[in-house]
Amino acid sequence: MLNEKQKLDTLMTLGIELNRIHDLDILLERVLTRARQFVNADAGSIYIHEGNRLDFTYSQNDTLQKQLPAGEKLIYSTFSVPIDQTSIAGYAAATGKMLSIPDVYKLAPTKSYHFSKKFDEASGYVTRSMLTIPLMSSKKDVLGILQIINAQDQNKQIRIFSQTDEKVMLHFAGIAAVALERAQMTRSMILRMIRMAEMRDPKETGAHVNRVAGFSLEIYEHWAKRRSIDKKEIDKTRDVLRMGAMLHDVGKVATSDLILKKPAQLSFEEFEIMKQHTIHGARLFSNPQSDYDEAAAIIAMNHHEKWDGTGYPGHVDPISGKPIPGHEGRVGRPLPGKKHEEIPILGRIVAIADVYDALSSKRSYKEPWDESRSIEIISQGSGTHFDPELVEIFLEQIALIRLIQARYLESHAEPQTTPEQLVPQ
Ligand code: C2E
Ligand code: SIN
Ligand code: SIN
Ligand code: SIN
Ligand code: FE
Ligand code: FE
Repeated sequence: MLNEKQKLDTLMTLGIELNRIHDLDILLERVLTRARQFVNADAGSIYIHEGNRLDFTYSQNDTLQKQLPAGEKLIYSTFSVPIDQTSIAGYAAATGKMLSIPDVYKLAPTKSYHFSKKFDEASGYVTRSMLTIPLMSSKKDVLGILQIINAQDQNKQIRIFSQTDEKVMLHFAGIAAVALERAQMTRSMILRMIRMAEMRDPKETGAHVNRVAGFSLEIYEHWAKRRSIDKKEIDKTRDVLRMGAMLHDVGKVATSDLILKKPAQLSFEEFEIMKQHTIHGARLFSNPQSDYDEAAAIIAMNHHEKWDGTGYPGHVDPISGKPIPGHEGRVGRPLPGKKHEEIPILGRIVAIADVYDALSSKRSYKEPWDESRSIEIISQGSGTHFDPELVEIFLEQIALIRLIQARYLESHAEPQTTPEQLVPQ
């Protein structure tokens, strides 16, 4: 539990902390963690405004989390509520007002909004006190809703939210909203770049890049944990990795349609041109304005390198497209690839994520493969195509990989989790 001095310190540096995070998912996680810390709340959720509804986007629940084996993540279902006066979150969004409810099971019948018991019924959790705060943009639009659940006293007994809690949370929400607006802007710019790439190559869909990013984050987190890399460093890398992984193939915009959409095997010459997408991608981010550009350039450049040195493009300068001095290789021979740890870790990670997703998805030149066959290719590639340690991690995490696939299905990004999955196994 934070004491008063710690609370004040945290609140003062909160803006700096949150504005450093550009990735939307990681930001939501941090906002909720910090908000709950302030009032010692057991659980909480964030809804994001989409169209005329609120999407239940991110959730934390210490009680349910503790029922899971160590290291496992809580899977929560995704749903949405209309912005109107019938639900608690909808009411807060429709009116722009904070709602503090002492006990959601004892709402006065005169209220237009009511508490949905679905979550509690699916999970066995009991929601009591609830503070629901709108996150307003600079233009006074509702960006989303922050909902904090079951404040606790020193003895972990559920208590109602105090007036001080309400004041602190209003201030907190103002800071969080600024960071949220920024992160949404960054993400929408990236999604625009990806949509542009998608117009060129319909197989390079939003769903594909989301899956590649999701797989990559899982692999990275486990790789980093094995090395006891500290939480701050992990969070920073997760942030840049997600964006970079989403943009891994954006250099394909420079590839001609004839090659990109060829419904058959590429010829040697065509494949040589196709390989340039790594260098084109890196060139797009070659003038780094931020850590994002740097990670995106590294990933674009290195996601087709192979562990044994037989990948591409090798040690190349992204601007000139020429070999870096000392790495020219032999005249008349293809440029040697980077080998082992010469390949940056983020490139090694995205290589596995990208191939696995390419195998399990439909391509203009191939049908989707079933899971066992795709896994087989990844296993066989251990030590040749892929970093063996990362293959080991990937295979260990296959259950999580399946969840990410289910979350980002083709054509529309409708989440596919069901309420049953709320219940810890
Ligand atoms: P992509 O479709 O995103 O595939 C990414 C990587 O997944 C490929 O990199 C390859 O390592 C792996 N992969 C994809 N399909 C298969 C497969 O059927 N079997 C195996 N063993 N591995 C597979 P790669 O080969 O460097 O290709 C890079 C990109 O070049 C591909 O991205 C795709 O856009 C294009 N491409 C590669 N081969 C062909 C082809 O025969 N026809 C066409 N039209 N495009 C191709
Ligand atoms: C994220 O998507 O990165 C935050 C949620 C999670 O870690 O599962
Ligand atoms: C992610 O953080 O995006 C992958 C985890 C998940 O989707 O459950
Ligand atoms: C590694 O490649 O194994 C670690 C160095 C890096 O972060 O690229
Ligand atoms: Fe690629
Ligand atoms: Fe790809």
